[in-house]
Amino acid sequence: MKQHYDVLLIGGGIISSSIAYHLSKQGASVAILERNQIGCEASSAAAGILGAQAEIDEEGPLLDLAIKSRSMFPELVKELKEKTAIDVELIQKGLLKVAVTEEDAHVLKKKAAQHHRWDEHVRWIDVKEARLLEPGLSPDIYGAITIPGDGQLAPAKLTQALAHGALYHGADVFEYCDVHSLIMENETVKGVQTSKGSFYGEKVVIAAGSWAKRFISSEHVGQVFPVKGECIALQSHKPLLSKTIFLDEGFYLVPKTGGRIVIGATKLQHDFTKTVSAQGIQFLLNKASALLPAIKEATFEKAWAGLRPQTNDGWPYLGEHPEIANLHMAFGHYRNGILLSAATGKIMADALLGKKPNHSFFTSFQLTRVMEGVH
Ligand code: GLY
Repeated sequence: MKQHYDVLLIGGGIISSSIAYHLSKQGASVAILERNQIGCEASSAAAGILGAQAEIDEEGPLLDLAIKSRSMFPELVKELKEKTAIDVELIQKGLLKVAVTEEDAHVLKKKAAQHHRWDEHVRWIDVKEARLLEPGLSPDIYGAITIPGDGQLAPAKLTQALAHGALYHGADVFEYCDVHSLIMENETVKGVQTSKGSFYGEKVVIAAGSWAKRFISSEHVGQVFPVKGECIALQSHKPLLSKTIFLDEGFYLVPKTGGRIVIGATKLQHDFTKTVSAQGIQFLLNKASALLPAIKEATFEKAWAGLRPQTNDGWPYLGEHPEIANLHMAFGHYRNGILLSAATGKIMADALLGKKPNHSFFTSFQLTRVMEGVH
């Protein structure tokens, strides 16, 4: 078994799979080390919203990364389909960020004006126009921001497609391979000890989402912790919705192919369980039926929970470890792992290969940023 690689990736979620894909496509030898199965955690629990402007309002490097990443999907999805035959069900029908109170409307009108400055297609629409676009929406809403550029896809399929795309380009994927510790020599990482033996790499990337802290000391660098999200899926035999519906508080309805609607999500900090509470389901159904009354006629399909990897300031950690040579970070994408996966994979791969190192970009996402007050 080959045990020496250019890059070892700890974790087999969407971020790791995307980095592996972009690295192997450029000729690097890569191994993904996943303690369970590819994409079995947050990557497959997500609703798959590509909500660059729905989720991020503040101008700056995170919004830039989100918009860049969103723009990469049409091409990426096409090339993955050619290489792996996996259709990730990209839907580009836009998103409505709906106001459900007068106060919401006041806040969202301001956000619409702000986003309109960066993207002329984003604008505030009144109730009448919102209901022309989505006739099933309740007449009790107060208007919406229309974001035509935001889309959605099937996140578990995208994760599989990226991992299979990496395999296509010669990467190795080790499932049921639990990384126990880093192999260190003089403040330099040389590899990892795993349940399948030792692996050596020129570089090691920690892309283990909510579990990333297992591999780094967090005393004087960034923190990552889980924020559990519960979701449900309903099935409707008649079309209820075409666009994603999103509320500012982070609640959403996502119409998938075949009449399926994914409804999410709760936010429970520091909870590592994946059980779904009756209260969570009740909350989601109440919100959903207030927004889209006909949803009561849909059939209940299933409920699940996933663990979003959150950081103290809500931004992902990307780039080199400040003290351990050859160790790199790519975790903490919180609510936006699917959206940010495309650009994260490409930017990290380029940096790991020593191409176009964009120092100011990495400064914004560095592990020590909170201490150094970068943003
Ligand atoms: N991006 C949606 C969520 O985290 O629930």
